[in-house]
Amino acid sequence: MSLESKLAATTALLQTIAAEHPDALLANSYGAEDMVLTDLIARLNLPLRSFSLDTGRLPAETYDLMQKVAERYPSHPVTVYFPDTAATEQYVNLHGINGFYQSVALRQSCCAVRKLEPLKRALAGRSAWITGLRRQQSPTRQDLADKQYDADNSLWKFSPLLEWSEAEVWQYLKENQVPYNALHDRHYPSIGCAPCTRAISVGEDVRAGRWWWENPETKECGLHAKASPLQSPV
Ligand code: ADX
Ligand code: SF4
Repeated sequence: MSLESKLAATTALLQTIAAEHPDALLANSYGAEDMVLTDLIARLNLPLRSFSLDTGRLPAETYDLMQKVAERYPSHPVTVYFPDTAATEQYVNLHGINGFYQSVALRQSCCAVRKLEPLKRALAGRSAWITGLRRQQSPTRQDLADKQYDADNSLWKFSPLLEWSEAEVWQYLKENQVPYNALHDRHYPSIGCAPCTRAISVGEDVRAGRWWWENPETKECGLHAKASPLQSPV
């Protein structure tokens, strides 16, 4: 399928989401995929809002992009959610500021405090959310559908770029002069928190720089853990 036809399918899906779930929110991590969606939503002038989870540990380049995006898309402001102060203090004082390197369990509990609890607050009362997930990103993303029920968060989850390749994402960003994270030009295809993200080498998987000390099977922070395709709400 050409980029043109994928773009048409993505546009149609975003329009359907806006019509059927006008309260749907784009989850914006300021990665390349989310920048495509941000640009498309603004370009199509869809009344869809966005949020971002600021874990407090993001790279400086991501904060620079946040500022640029706010200036470039004033009609579509991104609401930022921070981790709960008391829970973050408890984690850091108990396990150390970088306690997540010690075990998968401690890494997951840091992600729970800094991402999952704020995600729950961001999505509360909503009927759908939109993500920049792509099938090719990871073994854990092979079986996704572009619409599926997210039982963990009790709402629909849409992934309009599911079938896009990394090259297609970049073609869109360049052709439309969309701002992007400066780290992408320094061999960071996938960007999360600064201490849990590093550059990759030639030939490495796009997510090889995320939680690089863990096995590929555990490399999800829980934002996208368990949603199953074709499952609908009871
Ligand atoms: S992660 O689970 O490993 O962190 P990844 O970085 O690949 O996820 O991003 C996949 C999608 O999850 C993004 O396209 C975005 O929709 C959502 N997402 C990830 N991190 C955040 C964040 N900090 N704030 C908002 N959405 C996010
Ligand atoms: Fe904590 Fe790393 Fe997860 Fe960020 S990615 S919330 S720093 S464990």
